[in-house]
Amino acid sequence: MQTEYDLSDELSTIDWWALANVMAAANLFDRKAFDIARAFHGSYASVFVHKGDELVAAARATSDGVYYATVFDVVVAAEHQGCGVGRMLMAGLLAKLPFERIFLTSVFGKEDFYAKFGFLRQTNAMGLYEGPALTSAVQRGILQADA
Ligand SMILES: CC(C)(COP(=O)(O)OP(=O)(O)OC[C@H]1O[C@@H](n2cnc3c(N)ncnc32)[C@H](O)[C@@H]1OP(=O)(O)O)[C@@H](O)C(=O)NCCC(=O)NCCS
Repeated sequence: MQTEYDLSDELSTIDWWALANVMAAANLFDRKAFDIARAFHGSYASVFVHKGDELVAAARATSDGVYYATVFDVVVAAEHQGCGVGRMLMAGLLAKLPFERIFLTSVFGKEDFYAKFGFLRQTNAMGLYEGPALTSAVQRGILQADA
């Protein structure tokens, strides 16, 4: 089944509205297609998975190109989860990140997915959020206000 899925890093043919829908449906973020396109174009590495013409998954990472990279926006469309697409996506992205330190923040409950690729829990992470992002993160226990 997995051979039906194609991994690519080509930004120019991506349907950003389709990706916005995949992200919103996965409860990842409700973001505008234009802003998602800008974020992927501004990233160090991006990977996408298609099944035929359908965009079914995406992930990206920022990096200084020397020491550090941070993984963002890992998403597989709900109807394609559990088929090995997430593994294909992360393996493809990590192959583009030959750095000593790679960071990510996981949605609660997905940590063991990232553990499959060698990620360990990090105890010294801090975040500087603003506005609604700060309010939401504190409410969900992602940021501790007394840190
Ligand atoms: C998390 C996500 C990317 C996983 O993608 P997927 O295509 O379902 O994953 P795969 O089928 O490739 O699974 C790869 C491996 O991870 C495991 N795995 C997948 N989801 C897991 C989870 N939530 N917890 C623990 N292990 C998980 C699988 O069992 C599989 O293990 P195996 O290869 O040893 O058999 C996908 O569920 C998703 O997009 N979720 C919604 C958006 C989201 O939460 N993204 C993460 C943001 S931090």
